[in-house]
Amino acid sequence: MNAQFDFTGKNVFIFGGTSGINLGIAQSFAINGATVAVASRIQAKVDAAVAVLKELGSNAHGYSLDVRQVEDVKAAVTAFHDTVGPIDILVSGAAGNFPAPALGMSANAFRSVIDIDLMGTFHVCQSAYDVLRKPGASIINISAPQAYVPMIMQSHVCAAKAGVDMITRTLALEWGGAGVRVNSVVPGPIDNTEGMDRLAPTQEARAATIQSVPLGRMGEASEIAHAAMFLSSDAAAYISGVVLPVDGGWSLGGAPSAMAAKLAGG
Ligand code: COA
Ligand code: NAP
Repeated sequence: MNAQFDFTGKNVFIFGGTSGINLGIAQSFAINGATVAVASRIQAKVDAAVAVLKELGSNAHGYSLDVRQVEDVKAAVTAFHDTVGPIDILVSGAAGNFPAPALGMSANAFRSVIDIDLMGTFHVCQSAYDVLRKPGASIINISAPQAYVPMIMQSHVCAAKAGVDMITRTLALEWGGAGVRVNSVVPGPIDNTEGMDRLAPTQEARAATIQSVPLGRMGEASEIAHAAMFLSSDAAAYISGVVLPVDGGWSLGGAPSAMAAKLAGG
């Protein structure tokens, strides 16, 4: 299912937009008329994503870079601005994750996730500010439930994504006067993604995850895209600084779906 929006004439730049959830966001903006740029480390992934977006009719652009390198992020947004124009919608979604207990990771392992998720989001937002179309630009930072629910084997991601949400909220304060809205989207467990494959690699883990979602299923990348598009649309013109879970109710921490289905007569 693809919700209908009209982003004709809008320029969207998605960091980490070459696979999974973020590529789903890129595809949805492309289907709805936007010019879309994606950036990530691996050139082959960038090329493949640009080809997919072009097939959807977008005037797509790709950049190979590591969000940990602020000068490379700056160069990419400047190049985009010089060839295409100002950025209307900026998405910061590059992330790294591996399950490991705090005692089972080196300082460098912890730092690598902080550098990609947290420093990367700072680099992306700060570097793009000058080339955002103001007033009217929308920034979407892709967070995770680890930002507000502590999880074992996830101390690095919990710390990084909590920081991402605070970047969202502080930038909403600092940049609201320029007409820039800043929001976080928090995906729940999303099917067919690298993130879920890493966190729930077995059938048992998948089943337990599904059981923990009140709606009784994993989400689809397109459902995260719908939230990103809504928050970037005129319909959300007065929404800034929110951290929006899109997770089938997972963040409520309530009853397992099987028990809930019984209660609901299912
Ligand atoms: N357990 C413990 N430590 C781990 C680990 C694991 N499963 N995987 C990596 N590390 C450590 C490495 O040993 C290294 O630490 P060291 O230098 O002390 O040995 C550190 O993490 C960095 O690893 P490296 O492979 O050099 O980093 P990288 O920059 O190439 O990759 C990662 C970053 C580790 C986050 C990598 O998993 C990645 O690129 N992920 C992107 C895709 C992804 O995670 N998608 C899901 C998004 S939710
Ligand atoms: P994914 O496919 O691995 O997406 C990560 C993207 O970031 C890829 O395009 C990757 O491409 C890029 N990337 C990684 N490190 C980078 C770096 N240092 N510099 C630039 N780009 C980098 O994973 P996903 O599961 O779809 O996750 C996407 C986002 O959703 C992440 O922010 C994640 O935290 C969030 N999320 C996911 C879930 C889930 O269920 N999957 C749940 C909650 C939140 P390269 O490898 O080419 O760099």
